[in-house]
Amino acid sequence: MKAVTWHGKRDVRVEEVPDPAIKEPNDAIIRVTSSGICGSDLHLYEVLGPFMAEGDILGHEPMGIVEEVGSGISTIKPGDRVVIPFNIACGHCHMCGMELYAQCETTQVREHGMGAALFGYTKLYGHVPGGQAEYLRVPEAQFGPIKVPEGPPDERFVYLSDVLPTSWQAVEYAHIPEGGSVAVFGLGPIGQMSARIARHLGHRVIGVDGVTARLEMARRHGIEVVDASEVSDVPGEIRQRTDGRGTDSVIDAVGMEAHGSPAAKLAQTITGLLPDVVAAPLMANAGVDRLAALNQAIDSVRRGGVISITGVYGGMTDPMPMLRMFDKGITIRMGQANVRKWISALMPLLTDDTDPLGVMDFTTHRMPLEQAPEAYEMFQKKADGAVKILLKP
Ligand SMILES: NC(=O)c1ccc[n+]([C@@H]2O[C@H](COP(=O)([O-])OP(=O)(O)OC[C@H]3O[C@@H](n4cnc5c(N)ncnc54)[C@H](O)[C@@H]3O)[C@@H](O)[C@H]2O)c1
Ligand SMILES: [Zn+2]
Ligand SMILES: [Zn+2]
Repeated sequence: MKAVTWHGKRDVRVEEVPDPAIKEPNDAIIRVTSSGICGSDLHLYEVLGPFMAEGDILGHEPMGIVEEVGSGISTIKPGDRVVIPFNIACGHCHMCGMELYAQCETTQVREHGMGAALFGYTKLYGHVPGGQAEYLRVPEAQFGPIKVPEGPPDERFVYLSDVLPTSWQAVEYAHIPEGGSVAVFGLGPIGQMSARIARHLGHRVIGVDGVTARLEMARRHGIEVVDASEVSDVPGEIRQRTDGRGTDSVIDAVGMEAHGSPAAKLAQTITGLLPDVVAAPLMANAGVDRLAALNQAIDSVRRGGVISITGVYGGMTDPMPMLRMFDKGITIRMGQANVRKWISALMPLLTDDTDPLGVMDFTTHRMPLEQAPEAYEMFQKKADGAVKILLKP
């Protein structure tokens, strides 16, 4: 089959690789019909190289048709239309019992002290082949796959794999009071949907980014915006719009590659240049994140407010402004999305013909799998108005 494989910094290729096969009774094989490219894939493309191996298959936002199931699977059958959550969870362990699916004890990557395995995401997360491919082997298929109805196009449902549950969790974790306000830093796919969900739930939303097409998309969905390419003091601007206090909550939908802090960019560049044996421990033991967005989030939230971090960070010793955080009395929640937990809240919004979250105005590019190298480059550069790109195997 054809698959998108990783070969080094900014080097992804489409190659012929062996078809996946059932290995365990709880496996399923799906034929992929759509597969998203995520901001998390950009970390692999750019800074997390030390944890990748050449030829690794990328992708964790797939949907498709069940081809084959192992002897232990009775919940799905060949021909079913399914979306696959990005984290792999068993559904029956202690953590899954608490709906903490991103911490599943059956798939936890203990060797690296990490949580549940993820599709297409480094040795740290189990080294599981990903879904930007024609076929995907799905472990723990008794629990993960989400059955979706026939009829509407893939775009309607595919974002249940990651973007929608991640954004729903981001809003839940932001704990916005009734009638309250939230600032969303970053209007990539995750920030867009977090903003729409918060608004759908009746909150005031201020979105921040510096990319015109992304600001425009947010505006089109009724989001108030701050253009970070024009406003030099973003937290000041947010305070000014909120009676001098700041928003009740802030969602950081940017993560470790934020624009605006050159020192960390140097650290990232250096780890990107070192041989992996040296770079991996350096990344794991040092603060290599660009914390610009997170620092602005801390500055923008009102006293006693809540910050919800959904952008991914990867350093072990990142410097944090403890004085400001303690004095302001901030609460912070963060983590990988517990995808399955939020599906029952989301599904009615996707089968509603009025499309309350506007998922049909979200995919900006649909490209054949073969064009993955161009798609990655376009998404990273935010070129041609790219917000969300779907690959079509
Ligand atoms: N927690 C989870 O489970 C989970 C799931 C999916 C994605 N993520 C993470 O969420 C983050 C966003 O993902 P995405 O797909 O939307 O990616 P993206 O890279 O397209 O979006 C990031 C956006 O942030 C903007 N930005 C950069 N610096 C900024 C700053 N200082 N202030 C304001 N905006 C700034 C960029 O212009 C860009 O539009 C990534 O870190 C990704 O890894 C987390
Ligand atoms: Zn993703
Ligand atoms: Zn589990």
